[in-house]
Amino acid sequence: MPLKPMLAAGVGLLVAGLIAFALVNVPPGDAQAEYGDVVINNYSDDAGMRPVVFPHWFHRIRFRCNVCHAELGFEFKAGGNDINMLKIFDGEFCGACHNSEIAWGVENCVLCHTGMPGMRTRVHHSTSDRLVAPPSAKGQ
Ligand code: HEC
Ligand code: HEC
Ligand code: HEC
Repeated sequence: MPLKPMLAAGVGLLVAGLIAFALVNVPPGDAQAEYGDVVINNYSDDAGMRPVVFPHWFHRIRFRCNVCHAELGFEFKAGGNDINMLKIFDGEFCGACHNSEIAWGVENCVLCHTGMPGMRTRVHHSTSDRLVAPPSAKGQ
């Protein structure tokens, strides 16, 4: 085999190998990363509470999407729901389950309000999170 085609074939194999490596080498977390934790901070910071961190994956493996996104009316958007404690005490949103029956009750403030002060509303640890400029680049 002449040298040039051999080199070309070699490079081709190398590229194919790199692609295959990239495909099998996706860290396990990334497959579900679209559904990473959701930080909800429409009101918390302003009210002097830590922002809420909602562990989406933890809930997803326990309930069907429909339970929350149809029956309980949660919009498919981080921060897209107008949630406050009065509604939660009344059994809406998180309060439909966090009522000391289906799950631990609302008196456990610090189990939901776990974010760091100043964390903005977003999907945390998601693929799209990593595609946008890091907070430092945005002057946050
Ligand atoms: C099951 C989860 C959960 C628990 C437990 C919980 N919260 Fe909240 N809370 C939320 C969510 C979700 C919001 C909306 C967050 C936002 O948009 O900033 C919220 C919002 C708030 C707000 C701002 C809106 C408002 O109603 O004034 C305050 C203040 C607040 N919580 C205080 C508390 C206190 C105090 C406790 C404990 C007695 C508590 N929360 C327990 C989930 C929870
Ligand atoms: C226990 C309740 C619950 C279940 C079950 C659940 N979700 Fe969610 N989901 C939420 C909450 C809460 C949010 C954030 C809403 C907010 O910030 O106001 C959310 C947000 C989302 C978002 C928006 C994320 C973004 O990028 O803004 C998507 C998409 C989504 N869910 C898809 C799903 C799918 C698909 C399933 C089922 C496989 C599912 N959810 C199951 C409660 C749930
Ligand atoms: C459809 C029912 C349902 C809804 C709605 C729901 N949760 Fe939960 N949540 C659960 C159950 C069940 C558990 C597990 C309770 C246990 O382990 O005792 C849980 C656990 C949690 C945990 C602890 C996770 C861990 O790692 O142990 C957090 C934090 C939490 N929920 C926050 C929220 C917030 C914030 C909302 C609203 C945005 C919400 N949940 C709405 C059912 C629900």
